[in-house]
This record gives sequence, structure tokens and C-alpha cells, in this order.
Amino acid sequence: MSNNMANKEKQHFRVVGLPGDGIGPEVYASACRVLEVFEESHGLSIQLDEQLIGGAAIDASGDPLPAATIDACKNADAALLGAVGGPKWDTNPADQRPELGLLRIRAEFNLFCNLRPIQTHPSLHSFSPLRPERLNNVNLMIVRELTGGSYFGKKWRNDDEAEDVCRYTREEVERVTRAAGRIAQQRDQRITLVDKANVLETSRLWRAVASRIIEEEFPAVRMENMYVDAAAMHLLTRPADFDVMLTENLFGDILSDEASMLCGSLGLLPSASLNEHRFGLYEPVHGSAPDIAGQGKANPYAMLLSVAMMLRHSLGCDSQAIALERCIHDCWSEGILTTDLRSDGCTTSEVTAAVCERLAGAAVA
Ligand code: NAD
Ligand code: IPM
Ligand code: MN
Repeated sequence: MSNNMANKEKQHFRVVGLPGDGIGPEVYASACRVLEVFEESHGLSIQLDEQLIGGAAIDASGDPLPAATIDACKNADAALLGAVGGPKWDTNPADQRPELGLLRIRAEFNLFCNLRPIQTHPSLHSFSPLRPERLNNVNLMIVRELTGGSYFGKKWRNDDEAEDVCRYTREEVERVTRAAGRIAQQRDQRITLVDKANVLETSRLWRAVASRIIEEEFPAVRMENMYVDAAAMHLLTRPADFDVMLTENLFGDILSDEASMLCGSLGLLPSASLNEHRFGLYEPVHGSAPDIAGQGKANPYAMLLSVAMMLRHSLGCDSQAIALERCIHDCWSEGILTTDLRSDGCTTSEVTAAVCERLAGAAVA
């Protein structure tokens, strides 16, 4: 135990670990190493309860979200997920798809508020396909509604037709707008509401409800409206202009993958999925990357930044979160990156070891 923790009592937390599929278990293993360092050197005691989800769960039990996984989450402070999905299950029937496990855990725990922070770092500018001068001071937070819209509306298909109903209620828009308002208050007090109100009724409801909530409850926050097609363009031409971007489920999914390119790789973007209480699900924005799975190439930074978000949002360990983020940024400055960013890059375990080494010696306030 480091000196700075010698006289402090250990804090105990319970976290459900969900390695999942493809590179999921590889980046999850990286997170476990980092949690061990917190335990060994910084006085945190995190009891990891590993459970099944996605394709791994289908193979083991025929169910992408087994009851045991749900029960474990009910008794935990947070859950940490690698990724789900892969070609092996792509032709499965709708109720036997790995992605359904993820959608069900989001619905089961009411994880309506998905935070996807995008912050560029000067030492990564050259790895982005965008011009470096556009990347200065990019610091935006996508607040994606996560339990509504076309993901969860009525669905059906026959040989000739199919339908995915996109439905939103006033309450759903209100609660995620309040979450975005609270986040904006901690930042630059600006929200861009991204929608397609020139075509979609759901978007018109979003505009009416969100603007009322912001006006009445967050008078210091300024909200602008932007159509999603234009937002996709502005994200690339003037990304530094955004503060909080609030949007519905499907638009948020697409825009966050696009925004990852500001940082240089999808393998750098973390996320937190939160409800009204403290429990959260933390996972990288990326998927199971079947094209690189099993090769030691997975970029673990998105997962490690998700651990930092978990420390901050569900475990109340802000100083530990800051210390981990600082170690990650130091590694970036030293060019310790995987091959998605540089062809002569390191392996997943080399990056993990570099972060752990710095974290073991870091001062945690
Ligand atoms: P993906 O995010 O898995 O991969 C897209 C591209 O980015 C691939 O070339 C991949 O190699 C690369 N990439 C992604 N993460 C990386 C990392 N950490 N390090 C290095 N490179 C990385 O998206 P996809 O290929 O469209 O989907 C694959 C599977 O993942 C599908 O089954 C999909 O449904 C699933 N998926 C799951 C999640 C999740 O679990 N949260 C998210 C997205 C997609
Ligand atoms: C994500 C993923 C999921 C989503 C899929 C795997 C269901 O793409 O978390 O971004 O679309 O929400
Ligand atoms: Mn996605």
C-alpha cells in the first residue's frame, strides 16, 4: 500500500464484470489489471463479480442476458462491460442476438442517460483524419437518450415489409433533458439539441419539451437547435464549438462513432449509462471488433477511460478517476498507443502495463 493510503480505511465496492465477446474480454482484462493496481496501491477494494452477457451468454445458456447477470447487477454499485456481438451470431433470430443483451440491461436498469465525452488531446492530433487546427479545444459531451426511440418501439417484419416504431414520451424527453441541463451547468452552459424536426414528429416533441425544461429549470443554460444532418457536418468542420450535444437514441449512436474520429480512433471513447440513482453501466463506445479479436491489438484506452467514469459517477472516487485519466494522458504524450493509431504501435498488454506502472506510482489526493 502506498504511503498516502497507509492510514486510510479501504473503501469497498461491488462491480459486475461483463467481458462479452470479441475484443470485449481483452479490454476487460485490461480494466481488471487497473482495478488491481487501485487495490494494491491506492486502498480501493473492488469485488468483481464476473457474469455473462451477449454471445458468450447465448452460447452458455441460450439467453443474451441471463437472470444471474441481472441479479448480480441488482446487488452491485456498477457494471463494467467489454463489448458484445460478432459474426457467429449475426444470423440468429431477433431474440437470440448478443446486442439484445445490451438493450435489455439498459432497459432493465432504466439507464436512459448515456454520456459519451469527446475530448481531443494535443499529442493525438496527428492521428485524426481531421486537420490539426480544427482539433484544438474540442471538449464536447454527447448526452444520448438510451432507452427510447426506434431501438425500443414496436418492431415486426415479414418477407415484404418491416417496421421499427420510433416513439418518445414527454417524460422520457424531460428526464434526459434535465440530466443534460445539470451537466451543462458544470460545463460551459450550452446545449445543442440535435434532431430532425423538419421531418419527424418525435423531433418536434423533443424541441417543445426540451426547450420548456431548459427555459424553466436551467435559465442560465443556452440551448440551440440543429438538424442531425447539419450536425454531422458541423462536427467535422467546427467541433470545438460544441459543449453538450443532446439527442435521441439512434442519432446519438451514429454521431458518437463519427465524433470518435476527432480523437483518432473509436478505441478511445468511453461511455457511462446512468439512471436516476447511482448504478451505472460503463463500457467503451466501440463494439467487439471481430476483425482484430484475439490478436492482442485492441486499444484498451476506451475501456480504461470507462473505468475512470465509473470511479467518478458510481463509486464517488473522483481523485482516483483523475489520477487514472492523468496516467492515460501521460501515456498518450509518450506515444504509447496501439496499432489502430500508429502502425508501429504497442499491444493491448503493453499499453495496459504502461498505464498500470504509472498508476502504481501516482499520487492520489
Ligand atoms: P466495432 O466498433 O466493433 O468496429 C469498428 C471498427 O473499429 C473495426 O475496424 C474495429 O477493428 C475498430 N475498433 C473498434 N474498437 C477498437 C479498439 N478498441 N481497438 C482497435 N480498433 C477498434 O463495430 P462493428 O464492426 O460495426 O461491429 C462489430 C460487432 O460489435 C457487431 O456485432 C456490433 O453489433 C457490435 N457492437 C457492440 C457494441 C457494444 O457492445 N457496446 C457497440 C458497437 C457494436
Ligand atoms: C453502442 C452500440 C449499440 C447501440 C448496439 C451494439 C446495440 O452500437 O453502444 O453504441 O446501438 O446502442
Ligand atoms: Mn454504437
